[in-house]
Amino acid sequence: MNSALEIFQPGLLDGRTVFITGGGSGIGRGICDMLGGLGAKIFIASRNPEKLSVAVDGLRADGVTAEFIIADVRDYEQVEAAIARCAERFGGIDILINNAAGNFNCPTAELSPNGWKTVIDIDLNGTFYCCKAAYPHLKASGHARIISITTTLARSGWPQAAHAGAAKAGIQSLTNALAVEWAPDGILVNSVSPGPIAGTVGVDKLYIETGQEEVMISRVALRRFGKVDDIAGAVTFLCSPAGNYVTGTELVVDGGRQWTFASAS
Ligand code: HXC
Ligand code: NAP
Repeated sequence: MNSALEIFQPGLLDGRTVFITGGGSGIGRGICDMLGGLGAKIFIASRNPEKLSVAVDGLRADGVTAEFIIADVRDYEQVEAAIARCAERFGGIDILINNAAGNFNCPTAELSPNGWKTVIDIDLNGTFYCCKAAYPHLKASGHARIISITTTLARSGWPQAAHAGAAKAGIQSLTNALAVEWAPDGILVNSVSPGPIAGTVGVDKLYIETGQEEVMISRVALRRFGKVDDIAGAVTFLCSPAGNYVTGTELVVDGGRQWTFASAS
């Protein structure tokens, strides 16, 4: 059975349309599976057609209405075209998930200006571009949500990944501002901040490949990495009527890491 259906009511998101960036892998893919399993139509935008095809074929095999488009979130024209295509194909957009991100470990003294700019462009500028392009469609929705995937390391600062920490901090600030500006339009704007999630590119690249798996587990209060479904479930809660009074919030799903990480480093 689809894990979503063990937790949430079947058909919870029937008729809703989701536009998600980077939904072809990792956490984004898990979000697509859960929201799609609950009845939402899924439209994924990112750069890699092979990854996107596999994800959309998988969703369709499970009976989900799903499509993809190739788009780089660093390019506003591509984002605008992707959003327009989604609205045209699915008749609107109810839920925007800003999930696409780029990251790598690099001491800041060695980080090139283009390395810094690349991550800011993908994470922060890409999120703004999606919010801006989706706004007219969300305003027309009646059930609108924007959910951005961030990290608590935005608040603490992120040694060895200062570019990503700064970008995510910017996303949180944008989230808070839009929650206020777009509340009269009925658009609820939140973020979900995962801790380290097993089996994802993020954890593989930053922690497994660098030999830091054990130390990173020791910095999580629950002493284990999370699962993709832990994040997808939090996103689903925010998309559901149970989230109707939640806006401008960072929903932290990190096994308690935010309170243990700083003291352990
Ligand atoms: C130093 C690096 C670098 C590295 C790239 N750069 N990798 N600098 N160390 N490891 C520099 C390059 O030298 C270049 O600068 C600039 O960054 C752009 O690099 P490109 O390879 O040309 O960029 P591009 O092909 O656009 O790829 C973007 C990327 C790549 C971010 C570098 O890694 C990517 O596409 N990532 C997407 C997937 C990803 O990262 N997922 C993880 C998200 S996890 P110069 O000056 O040489 O031109 C996450 C949180 C995880 O966000 C949390 C875990 C707990
Ligand atoms: P991931 O699988 O690498 O997901 C990132 C996605 O972003 C990819 O599918 C990638 O697709 C897309 N992407 C990257 N650059 C893009 C661009 N320029 N334009 C469009 N799409 C782009 O990594 P993940 O670990 O699941 O991360 C997902 C989200 O969770 C990110 O926001 C990350 O910061 C956040 N997060 C992750 C963790 C974790 O433990 N993994 C912890 C905290 C926060 P293409 O290659 O097809 O473009």
